[in-house]
Amino acid sequence: MRDPRYDVLFEPVKIGPVTAPNRFYQVPHCSGMGYRRPEMLAAMRGVKAEGGWGVVCTEYCSIHPSSDDDGYPYARLWSDEDLAAQALMVEAVHKQGALAGVELWHGGSRAANLTTREPGFGVRSGPAPHMPVQSRPMDKSDLADLRSWQGAAARRARRAGFDIVYVYAAHGYLLSEFLSSRSNTRCDEYGGSLENRARLVRELLEETREAVGDACAVACRFSLAAESGGAILEPAESRDLLALLAELPDLWDLTVDDYSIEMGSARFVEEAAQEETIAAAKTLTTKPVVGVGRFTSPDTMLRQVTRGVLDLIGAARPSIADPFLPKKIEEGRLEDIRECIGCNICYAHNSLGAPIRCTQNPTMGEEWRRGWHPETIPAKASRDSVLVIGGGPAGLEAARALGQRGCQVTLAEAGTELGGRVTQESRLPGLAAWARVRDWRLGQIRQMANVATYLDSRLSAEDVLGFEASHVLVATGARWHGDGTGRWLKRPFAGAEMSLAPDALLARWPDVSLPDGPVLLYDDDRYYLGSALALGLRQAGYPVVLVTPEGRVGQWSQYTEELHFANARLLEASVEIVTNHFLESFDGAEARLACVFTGRETVRPAASVVPVTARTPDDGLFRALAADPGALQAAGMESLRRIGDCDAPGIIAAAIYSGHRAARAVGAPDEDRPRQESTAPVTASGCSRSGSNGIAAGDPSTR
Ligand SMILES: Cc1cc2nc3c(=O)[nH]c(=O)nc-3n(C[C@H](O)[C@H](O)[C@H](O)COP(=O)(O)O)c2cc1C
Ligand code: SF4
Repeated sequence: MRDPRYDVLFEPVKIGPVTAPNRFYQVPHCSGMGYRRPEMLAAMRGVKAEGGWGVVCTEYCSIHPSSDDDGYPYARLWSDEDLAAQALMVEAVHKQGALAGVELWHGGSRAANLTTREPGFGVRSGPAPHMPVQSRPMDKSDLADLRSWQGAAARRARRAGFDIVYVYAAHGYLLSEFLSSRSNTRCDEYGGSLENRARLVRELLEETREAVGDACAVACRFSLAAESGGAILEPAESRDLLALLAELPDLWDLTVDDYSIEMGSARFVEEAAQEETIAAAKTLTTKPVVGVGRFTSPDTMLRQVTRGVLDLIGAARPSIADPFLPKKIEEGRLEDIRECIGCNICYAHNSLGAPIRCTQNPTMGEEWRRGWHPETIPAKASRDSVLVIGGGPAGLEAARALGQRGCQVTLAEAGTELGGRVTQESRLPGLAAWARVRDWRLGQIRQMANVATYLDSRLSAEDVLGFEASHVLVATGARWHGDGTGRWLKRPFAGAEMSLAPDALLARWPDVSLPDGPVLLYDDDRYYLGSALALGLRQAGYPVVLVTPEGRVGQWSQYTEELHFANARLLEASVEIVTNHFLESFDGAEARLACVFTGRETVRPAASVVPVTARTPDDGLFRALAADPGALQAAGMESLRRIGDCDAPGIIAAAIYSGHRAARAVGAPDEDRPRQESTAPVTASGCSRSGSNGIAAGDPSTR
């Protein structure tokens, strides 16, 4: 039963001509699926609607080939051929009683048009962010074309069945270029004054309204500058622009004008970080407002509504981590909410052009491909006994999912605490929210009478055989190399025996006791651990030099939108950074480095060296068991499998996925080739993918 305090979250909200059934609103977010994987996409969005999100939106959806974002799989409404794919998603969302929204998009100078090879255009000729190409400045005929493309795409959106159609004026794309006095240097009626800079957004709002009539609501996504300053607009200017356009759309989708805050990782940005900026803007319009803030706490959500900050609780990541978050609040099951940890692995994979995945939710992206559901899992017919060895993320997830299947599960952990690397790493600066990976699973396991957990239980191969479990999953993790080998060094550096591997530090953290003097942290892992350890060591009072063969510290964290903050924090903490160098030797007092380009050597004073480079699977127990199939058979063991880092060291999301997949595969087939999207050519009508797609018959006005 739902706590009546939260009733307000379940009130319907009128958005122009349509009504959202509740206040839970999945804002536009990419999936790495887009136009390439419509079946996967539709199933994923459908599950969100099933989980109670009253509105479910697409990702950014291109209106014309002059805005192509390949290799990121965006959505597309270029022609009637794109209708069937979009209608598939709408159908899946409508089936659950939710509204479907589409975020019509033109990328302007940011779109490099790698596939279509159309020249891009912008408010002026501007460079694409990651390509050595520039757009051309839009002339009057381009502006007229843009209006008609938006209108045509909006009409197609209506025919596909969408309820909410966006004008996308945020995130630095074409309309932001026009709004910003920094990029808009035009001298015509689209440049100069606020009114002129807002003209194109106004025209597209009107064009969209005319195209959809009373069938759909018109929404506008718009970024406000925080008081600390914005990337595109000044704070007062952004509010004035909003005030100018205030009553034109049926809904404002408001964010802040800084993607590393809007999409902030938990390492650097708190829940509801945009609250005050949006609160100040809300008073400028009478239209409903949706906003985001990595909302996972029902009380924080409630505060947004009762304080009058938001009418609709927007969410991308919380809906990825737990598609059933609204249902769980509705059913009074708050302890079952699988809270987003703010790691941005979802975003990273979209940025890599790969299907979305989630650290907390292993079923994300697998709804159609593997038929996985985030809340249900087929029961195991017999109550087989399963021994899971190792209580890190893979072992915990496997034990939880097996418990949910009804198996008799024993989880044996060698150490004195559960959570493995998650527990250790969550003690580092900024990573506390990562403990949710452990805590959610433990919370679920505690409710299961069929899962027994044992700490301090290191098992030998003989112990395992003596246990006589039907199935054994080995999740014994991995160990960091102490010798510097990894992506750059293929042989240990000289003096490696004097270094300190991260495991030794992590096991005792925050009790750090190193020789007095500078710590040289050699980071060839290139993600978060190097910089998190460096910051922690700095906070513990050690002078720290961070050396990396990469051009920037933690280069991979560009995909998780953390690169900027991570480097800023290191510099602010006076961590000395040496890029493009690798470690050659350490003698206990000095470290010799070499430039990756020239080989030129430099010497640094170092009292200790901590290499963060690569890991080795801790798979000795697995190999000992696997070496004697006869003994396994004699012990009645039907299957033996290694999972998580013990199988292949990777990110935590990979460990959770591995544990989940193995749990589903106990006593069932494990597909190594899941379903794939059809690559068959579409028919002339563009409707080859599915029969019933809910598209209204031909609209002659559609271009
Ligand atoms: C994987 C991912 C993809 C995103 N893609 C888009 C997009 O296509 N269009 C857009 O306007 N915002 C996009 N966003 C930003 C979200 O809409 C949202 O503003 C942001 O994630 C903050 O909300 P949250 O804290 O609820 O995640 C994306 C976010 C994520 C996590
Ligand atoms: S991948 Fe991380 S940030 Fe993204 S939804 Fe999952 S837990 Fe949240």
